Amino acid sequence: METVLLTDEEVPQPILVLKGISKYFGGVHALEDVDFEVYPQEIVALVGDNGAGKSTLVKIIAGVHQPTKGQIFFLNQPVEIRNPHDAQALGIEIVYQELALIETRDVPANFFLGREPVKGRWGIFVDRKKMIEDTVRTLKELGIVLPSLRTLVRYLSGGQRQALAIGRVMPWGGRIIIMDEPTAALGVKESRRVLDLILRLKEKGCSVIVISHNMRHIFNVADRIVVLRGGRKVGDKKKSETTPDEIVKLIVGAEML
Ligand SMILES: Nc1ncnc2c1ncn2[C@@H]1O[C@H](COP(=O)(O)OP(=O)(O)OP(=O)(O)O)[C@@H](O)[C@H]1O
Ligand SMILES: [Mg+2]
Repeated sequence: METVLLTDEEVPQPILVLKGISKYFGGVHALEDVDFEVYPQEIVALVGDNGAGKSTLVKIIAGVHQPTKGQIFFLNQPVEIRNPHDAQALGIEIVYQELALIETRDVPANFFLGREPVKGRWGIFVDRKKMIEDTVRTLKELGIVLPSLRTLVRYLSGGQRQALAIGRVMPWGGRIIIMDEPTAALGVKESRRVLDLILRLKEKGCSVIVISHNMRHIFNVADRIVVLRGGRKVGDKKKSETTPDEIVKLIVGAEML
């Protein structure tokens, strides 16, 4: 058999690398010496029991928390992600749950929350026309169907809100999109739509980090599954090389079986 050697350029390089990350909250060791990578156009599922450190890890990537120890590299360069703004500048977007939407405002307003485009000489008028155009384009690109743009968020269903929360990170050039339990509160059909949306984001060139407790959802969309237990990484498996059974065992630990 002929051996094919890949040159350096052909070996896929991770976009994001975390090395030896620990995070202590006082005496609580939320994360201990965790290595974590994200490759281009990859969907990584982050799994583990309650309190395993999943949210803490993604919050470090999103600039919400600072690591106690460890280093972060973005495209091979060491970086410090001191706040969410730093993360956004790198193209890292975290989807906050529907809680982060404003119920009394409509779809375009929520799409651009806090980042409204302005117009006019002094840049003081919100460019509503551009907001509507951009919202319509992104919703269409992602195949998100909402009743009407003018609908106030309070009248949207849970799944529609989640789709909006995910869709609105797209126009900001997100390269890595993080979702912390996006299907936790959703029914079967609505979850399916959110999973489709995750796959669509990947098609569009994004990488996605998704936290979920639902093994079916994970095996539906993930390319790779990373398992945390008690703040440590205990598994990092390509989906094609593992099974739900093995992942569950890694989550609970051998001592529980
Ligand atoms: N801001 C904080 N201050 C103090 N302790 C914290 C803080 N955030 C998280 N922790 C602790 O860190 C540990 C990991 O929490 P984390 O929220 O990352 O878990 P998780 O894997 O997301 O769990 P879940 O599945 O329940 O959401 C827990 O023991 C938690 O109590
Ligand atoms: Mg969590």
